[in-house]
Amino acid sequence: MFVGLDLGTSGLRALLIDASQNVIAAREAIYDTTRPHSGWSEQTQSSWIDACKDVFAQLKADFPHEVAAIKGIGISGHMHGANLLDDTGTPLRPCMMWNDTRSVDQAAKLDRTPNVRDLSGNIVFPGFTAPKVAWVADNEPDLFEKTAKVLLPKDYLNFWFTGVYASDMSDSAGTSWLDVGTRNWSETLLAASGMRADQMPALFEGSEAIGPVQDTIAAQLGLPKGVIVAAGAGDNAAAACGIGALNEGDGFVSLGTSGVLLTGRGAYAPKPESAVHTFCHAVPGRWYQMGVILAATDSLNWLAKNLGQSPADLSKALGDSISGPGTMRFLPYLSGERTPHNDAEIRGAFLNIDINAGPEALTQAVLEGVAFALRDNYEALKSTGAHLDHLIAIGGGAQSPYWVELIATLLDLPVSLPEAGEFGAALGAARLAICAATGADPEAVMTKPAIGTTVPPRSELRDSYETAYAGFVKSYPGIKALQQ
Ligand code: XUL
Repeated sequence: MFVGLDLGTSGLRALLIDASQNVIAAREAIYDTTRPHSGWSEQTQSSWIDACKDVFAQLKADFPHEVAAIKGIGISGHMHGANLLDDTGTPLRPCMMWNDTRSVDQAAKLDRTPNVRDLSGNIVFPGFTAPKVAWVADNEPDLFEKTAKVLLPKDYLNFWFTGVYASDMSDSAGTSWLDVGTRNWSETLLAASGMRADQMPALFEGSEAIGPVQDTIAAQLGLPKGVIVAAGAGDNAAAACGIGALNEGDGFVSLGTSGVLLTGRGAYAPKPESAVHTFCHAVPGRWYQMGVILAATDSLNWLAKNLGQSPADLSKALGDSISGPGTMRFLPYLSGERTPHNDAEIRGAFLNIDINAGPEALTQAVLEGVAFALRDNYEALKSTGAHLDHLIAIGGGAQSPYWVELIATLLDLPVSLPEAGEFGAALGAARLAICAATGADPEAVMTKPAIGTTVPPRSELRDSYETAYAGFVKSYPGIKALQQ
């Protein structure tokens, strides 16, 4: 038996699978995010530990024999969060999350520092770890002084399980401290934000073991002795492991809170100026590249909240298939944007609002705006030399046939939906646990899911959507110029 834990933005999910990857059970526990000031987003480390105890208690109550047979645990987590620990391993403050944007100034300064983009392969986005720690240095200097280690969110759980300060390459690539090409901490990058190598955890590949669960923790959770913990992965790399996207041309589009367009890469091919993220994969010798938009289903959720309807009802009202673009445009920059604009300050817009526009027209504009933004991401990915042959759609938004067909048409790629079942980050984490505990070859373990349906692009509508997309591309500089 193996467990994949996915430390998500709203809760912790545990997936119990057997050695043949049959799903035995999935359990969940939620925790809060606090937003004490505008732009801040924090979670407490103790809420993650409580959630961990909760999911294992649930599993143990329902599957005592299976839990007693667990051999390995792998953890996936939301990326970029900063956990500052003192020299006893105690957190000095709550985790500053991936969607915490307080460190805009520190990010801009680090991003301008010579060699930083070259070595890290990426823009220093305000959500990344290094600028957050630089914010602590500027605003909470007493805590910065006491910082003995900085851990990413899932690495804090790994530390709790094993007592080992460890991280994997895929998550570490999102700190702005890793030399992403050579897969090592970079003295130059660390020095740029006043950090030292001894404050960093030891580096592993995600599919490697970092050690066994400590006996005291095993006793608390009711686990057998000696369960192996994998180094694990950042959530996007873990999701790629979950759907078998390891190689060139394999990719997914994820329609979650944020939107991600990801492709596996066999070589390191950074292009920071495109605002594409170039990160190490969770398995050795591979990288992945992705475009990230900050509000995908978040855009639809925002509209639904304001119209007093459910997101599912709004998208259902459009029917299951597209019939050409609307005349209204929506720019989905409700929380700023990463790819391709790298603009934390920009905000969203509706353009061309007609007197007859009602909820359906607004919904269509929102779904189209997100799809246009994903097309922007596809163009950015292609500019790095990446290519995609097809896409698998994952995340809550993939349940809208209209949205999936829109994306297939705008990207001119077939988009497949997996058959019902598990294929997300928790499965990827469990697959990393199999590799770490048994030494299995990642390529053999990380197979592709059975496909339910494949949605082809609607080629007869492509010209009209291309024209609409050209209008969308022109809109960003326009609203940027108007912004105060
Ligand atoms: C990736 C990113 C998000 C978080 C969300 O760069 O910031 O996908 O990992 O969980």
